[in-house]
Amino acid sequence: MYTAAQQRAFYELSKELLKQQLQPSHEAAESVMRDLRDVLIYHEWRYYVLNDPVVSDFEYDQLFKHLQNLEAHFPELIDPDSPTQRVSADLTEDFPSAEHLTPMLSLANSYNAEDLNDFDEQVKKLTLTPAEEDVEYVVEPKYDGGTIALVYENDILSRASTRGNGVMGEEMTANARVIRSIPLKAGFSRSGFQTVELRGEVLIRKDIFNQINKKREAEGLALFANPRNAATGGLRMKDPKETAQRGLEAFVYQLAYATNAEGADELGRLRTHDESIELLGTLGFKVPGEERKVCKGIREVIDFCLHWQARREDFPYEIDGMVVKVNRRDLQERCGYTSHHPRWAIAFKFQAKQATTKLLNVEYQVGKVGSITPVAKLEPVPLAGVTISSVSLHNEDFIRTKDLRLGDTVLVERAGDVIPYIVKAMTELRTGAEHPIAFPQFCPVNDTEEPVELVREEGESAWRCPICVCGAQDLQRLIWHVSKDAMDIEGLGKSIVERFYELGWLRTLADVYRLPYEQIEQLEGFGPKSVTNLKASIEKARQNPIQRLLHSLSIHHLGQKISKLLAAEIGHVLDLKDWTAEDFTHIKDVGPVVAENVMAWFHHPSNIQLLEEMESLGVNLRQTEEDRPRAASADAPLAGKSILFTGTLQTMGRKEAQEKAEAAGARNVSAVSSKLDILVAGEAAGSKLKKARELGTVQVLTEEEFLSLVS
Ligand code: IVH
Repeated sequence: MYTAAQQRAFYELSKELLKQQLQPSHEAAESVMRDLRDVLIYHEWRYYVLNDPVVSDFEYDQLFKHLQNLEAHFPELIDPDSPTQRVSADLTEDFPSAEHLTPMLSLANSYNAEDLNDFDEQVKKLTLTPAEEDVEYVVEPKYDGGTIALVYENDILSRASTRGNGVMGEEMTANARVIRSIPLKAGFSRSGFQTVELRGEVLIRKDIFNQINKKREAEGLALFANPRNAATGGLRMKDPKETAQRGLEAFVYQLAYATNAEGADELGRLRTHDESIELLGTLGFKVPGEERKVCKGIREVIDFCLHWQARREDFPYEIDGMVVKVNRRDLQERCGYTSHHPRWAIAFKFQAKQATTKLLNVEYQVGKVGSITPVAKLEPVPLAGVTISSVSLHNEDFIRTKDLRLGDTVLVERAGDVIPYIVKAMTELRTGAEHPIAFPQFCPVNDTEEPVELVREEGESAWRCPICVCGAQDLQRLIWHVSKDAMDIEGLGKSIVERFYELGWLRTLADVYRLPYEQIEQLEGFGPKSVTNLKASIEKARQNPIQRLLHSLSIHHLGQKISKLLAAEIGHVLDLKDWTAEDFTHIKDVGPVVAENVMAWFHHPSNIQLLEEMESLGVNLRQTEEDRPRAASADAPLAGKSILFTGTLQTMGRKEAQEKAEAAGARNVSAVSSKLDILVAGEAAGSKLKKARELGTVQVLTEEEFLSLVS
C-alpha cells in the first residue's frame, strides 16, 4: 500500500507537523491540511490494518486535533474524505451487520490534571452545578481490547456485535456465546427490562496472552503483537471453537439501553451509573471491581487516575487509561452528547509506553569487573513522563539479534518502573544510509596509548577489558565499594567519588579510609559539618560486618547472597587466600565459577596487600560472632515459608521488610501463585491482594500482624 520511501516521508512529515502548532494563513492552511490528512490516513493504516503504529496514540491525537482545529477555522477547506469526516468505517463482509439499538459513541481524551479540571468545569456549566460544589464521578479502567455490544431480549442473550462504525456493527453472537464471562441468560425482567443493550470490552489476561504466544512460538506460528490484537482477532474467528480456545473474557462497563414490554425507556429507573454497574454485577456479569471508584469531586478523580497510571503494570489486563463518568444519570442527560462522544464522560489516557526516535550513536561504558556495555545515544524523546536520550544496549548479542544500525528509527518502551529499552528497529523506515554498529575489538574506554584487546569468555554475554591500564575500572570499583548495597557510605555518592578521583585522592579502595579531610573542607560545596558527617559514615563503614566488605570488592560473580554464605564460614577475610576449590564445594549454592573467581582474586598479591592496608586503616576484616550470618533455624517464626509484600508499608521500606522476613526464616518471592504462603498487604494493595484472596490458600497479613510475628 505504501512504499518504504513514502513511509519514511510520512513519518518525517508527522514529526515536522507535531512541532508546528501555529495557526497558518489561509494560503498556507490548504497545504498543511492536505499534509495532515495524508499523514493521518497513513497512521490509521499502520494502526488499524497493520496493528503496528509508528507514532504514539498521543501524537496521533495531536495531529488529529490540529486538523480539526484548522477545519474549524477554514470550513471551506474541509475535504469530505478527511479522517475527521469519517462517518462510516468499512465493514468486512464476512460477518452480517447489525444496527446498534443506540449509537456507540467514542470518548473525548484527556492527558493530565489540567485537562480533567477543564472537563469538570464544563460539566459544572452544563449541569448548572455551582463551581464550589463537587460533582460525583465514577472512574473505571479503560480496557484495551475489543469493544462488544450485547443485546438481551426477555433475559436471553440474543445478539452480540462489534462496534463497527458505531451505528452498524458486525454480528458475532456465536463467538460471544463461547466467552464464559458473558451470561447467556440474565434476570433483567426482574427489574422490568425487556430489551437491554450492554457495552463492554473483550480482553485476554496478560499472563494467558504470554502463554498463548509461547505456544505459538513453539508451533512456529506468527506471534501476536499485544493482548488487544489477540483478543480482537479471537472475537473474529470464523469458527467459534477457535474463539473458545483463546481464553477470552468480557468486562461490561455500560448499560446503554433498556426498555420495558411496551418499548418505553426504563433507564431512568437507575439513578446512577454506579447502580447500573452494581446491578449488572449481581446479574452475573464481569464488571470493574476494586479498580472502579465513586469519587466526590475532580480532585479525587485525578488522584485515582494517577494512582492507576503508576500501577497499570500490576493490573492483570492491559489498560490504556481510565474513564471518568458523571455518576448521576439526570446530570448525564443535562450534559448531553456531541456527534462523537458523550459530554458526561472523558477518557484519561495514560502516557504512552512506547515512542519512536533516532539511534544517533553508540557509546561504551566499562563496569567494575571490566564488562563493556554499549549505550545507545538517542534523539531525545518524551516517554511516559521523562525524556529519554540514552538506553543500554546490554551487549553485542543484543545489537546483533535486533539488527540495530546507526541512523535507525527505533521503537523504545518504558513500562512502569522498567528501565527504558529498545524494542526493535523500524526497518521499513530505513533509507539505506544506516550503518552497522561495529563492536570494538579494543577497550574503547581506555585513554592511554596501549590498546587492550577485549576478551569474551565462554558462556558470557559481555566482552571484558581483562587488564585495565587506564584506571576506568578503578573508578567504577570505588563507586561500587561505597554504594548502598556494598559498604553503604552515606555522603560519598557517585559524583563525589568522581571528583575525589579527579583530584587524585582516591585510587585504591584503601584510599577511602585515608581521605585528606582538611583539604576536603576547603572544597566548594563542603564545610566542617559535611566533613564531620562524612568522617562519621566512613567510621561506621569500618565496622561493617565482613559480608558487606566481601560484596564490596567487585569480585566477578560474587553477589550479596554468596558473600553472606562465605562470611558465615570464615573467621577472617584473609582466610580465603588459603581456600581450595574443594573447600568451596562444601557450601551449598556456591558453584565452580564463583569459586574460581574468588580464588583468583585472593591469589593476586596486590589484592592481599590491599586488604592488609585496609585492615591497618581500621577496616574490620574479622568475623564477630554477633555478625556471623546464620541459617535461620527450623523454629524461626517463618521458617520455610514463602512471603511477598504488596502495597505501601507504613513503618518500614520494602527492603527492610524483606530483610526482616528473611531473618525470620522466610523466603521472599515476587509473584502471587499457589506456592505463596504469606502475603503482607500494605496500604492500597491492589491486584496481588485480589489474586491471593481468589486463590484462598494464601495467608494474608497486615503490616502490624507481620511485625508482631517476626519480633
Ligand atoms: S464508555 C458512551 N467505559 O474505549 C460511553 N468505554 O472511545 C462510551 N472503553 O472503544 C464508552 N473501557 O470500548 C467506556 N470503562 C470504559 C471503557 C471504554 C474501554 C473503550 C470503548 C471504546 C473506547 C471509547
